[in-house]
This record gives sequence, structure tokens and C-alpha cells, in this order.
Amino acid sequence: MLKNLYINFISPTGGVKKIAHLLFDILEQQTHLSINIKDITSHKMRRYTLSYSQDDLVIWCIPTFFERMPTVLNNLKLQGNAAMSFICAIFGNRSVGDCAREFANLLQSNNFKVIGYSKLVCQHSQHELLGKGRPNNTDIKFYKNMLNKVVAYASLDKIKTYNFETTAYIPRLKTFCVPSIINSALCNKCGMCANICPLGIVEKFSFIVKDDNKSKCMGCTACIAHCPTCARGFDEQGKAQIDAFMQDIYKTHHLAKDNEFYLA
Ligand SMILES: Cc1cc2nc3c(=O)[nH]c(=O)nc-3n(C[C@H](O)[C@H](O)[C@H](O)COP(=O)(O)O)c2cc1C
Ligand code: SF4
Ligand code: SF4
Repeated sequence: MLKNLYINFISPTGGVKKIAHLLFDILEQQTHLSINIKDITSHKMRRYTLSYSQDDLVIWCIPTFFERMPTVLNNLKLQGNAAMSFICAIFGNRSVGDCAREFANLLQSNNFKVIGYSKLVCQHSQHELLGKGRPNNTDIKFYKNMLNKVVAYASLDKIKTYNFETTAYIPRLKTFCVPSIINSALCNKCGMCANICPLGIVEKFSFIVKDDNKSKCMGCTACIAHCPTCARGFDEQGKAQIDAFMQDIYKTHHLAKDNEFYLA
């Protein structure tokens, strides 16, 4: 029997967080169940095991990176214990690709029952026109309907597990450039970048990413977004490569996309 609702989110630059909190507010109005919301963005959250029971429904809000799930999710310590899960794969108006099903496989291998998933559009963190103004009022109406159906489904006596495709994943692209301190005069050594990096690869005292760790960087830009002085960024060459890539994406994905959700 469904007793507890959890929303866990990972949000490097705040777009996913906005949607996760909207979902929380809607659930507070729609149900009398206990609801817990947790920000699992920082690598410090990886110290804890996320453990649930079969009376729980865990709604996961995650960003899409290069049409796949953020690699850092592989570092989560998870104990599903037959808890139900619903995945919200949040994307910047390009495509969710394999993000949701890759995470569903990870959850299922940790004993969660994935009952469904959604694709939710938000402002793209690397292009100001992609997903501009999302989530908007129409999105909020969509969330209300979706959550109503998800909670009703999770409250049934018998629930099924959603069947995802089993074809090969879209190959994972690598970030073009790893952020660094681009203006050292501005760095006040506050440590925000080291604290927030989901992978914990920004060094504590030098605030650089060591060469050995560069290949782990997801390009999520959390370290840039949380820098209070704008000391961090991509170097000129990296910025130019990212801008060129994003311009190509914009050409094919500039029309506003719809949200979608699926239940087993
Ligand atoms: C490295 C990177 C790759 C991305 N890849 C995709 C993608 O394949 N499809 C898409 O629609 N959006 C993509 N986005 C946009 C993000 O999914 C979107 O901005 C996301 O919601 C960011 O969440 P945040 O604002 O909480 O960091 C990408 C963003 C980054 C930084
Ligand atoms: S170093 Fe890479 S993974 Fe870490 S916050 Fe910065 S962009 Fe994200
Ligand atoms: S967040 Fe910015 S100001 Fe703070 S240590 Fe990192 S680079 Fe320096």
C-alpha cells in the first residue's frame, strides 16, 4: 500500500530543481501522504545510502546529458527493497534519448519497481532559446494530470513494471571542455565549486580538475553556475566548440516540444 512519497532530484544549474519543487507543491495539494524532497546534486550526498520500502513511491527528477542519464547516477548507493519508482527525465527541448531507460535499468538492478517515466521540457542550460520559458503554465497543468495518474496507479493493489526497449543505447558523447578558473583574480576561494560538483572532481584547495579526472567531467556546469564571482568557466576554445554544437542543435530542435508520460 502506498504510504510515502519521495522526490529526489539532481540539478546542476537549477532547471530540474524548479520542476522538482513544482511537483512537490502539486503533490502537497493533491494527496495527504507524507512527501519528502531531497537534493542529491552534490557529491557529498553520495555518502548516504538511499534506502526505501515497498510502501514508498520515489519520483526521480534527473537532467538529460547527451541523450543519456548523467554518469554520476552510477555512483548512487541504492537500496530499493521493492519500492516503486517513477522517473522524470528532464531535457532542454532536444531529446531525452535513452536517459530514462538507462536510469530505469540502474534502479531495477537495485531492486526498485519502475512503474513509468516522463519526458519533461525545461530551459536548456547551454542555449538560452532552447526550452525558453519552460516550465510554463501549460507544463504545470500537464504535471498535475501526470501526478494524479501516477499516484492513482501506485495506489493500486497490483502494479506492473514498465517494459523499456532493450536495443543498444545511443553512444555517449563526451563534454568538449572541462571548466576551470578563467579569471583567478576573481576567485575568493569560497569552495562552492568543489562542494557542488556532483562527481567531486573539483580539488578542494586549488579548485582545478586534475588531468586524471578530466575524463569523468559530465560538462554539467554546476561548478560554473554556483561560482558567486564568475571566476569559473570554459576557456575560449571550449566555449567556441560548445556554441557551435549548440547552434546546430538549435537549428533542428527550435520548435517547442511536448511533455510526455508513460505508465506500465
Ligand atoms: C552536457 C549537457 C548535455 C545536454 N544534453 C541534452 C540532450 O541530449 N538533450 C536535451 O534535450 N537537453 C540536453 N541538455 C540540457 C539539459 O538536459 C537541461 O538543461 C537540464 O534540464 C539541465 O538541468 P539543470 O538546469 O538542473 O542543470 C544538456 C545539458 C548539458 C549541460
Ligand atoms: S567539474 Fe565537470 S562534472 Fe564537476 S561540476 Fe564542473 S562541469 Fe560538472
Ligand atoms: S566557486 Fe568560484 S570563487 Fe569559489 S572557489 Fe570556486 S572558482 Fe573560486
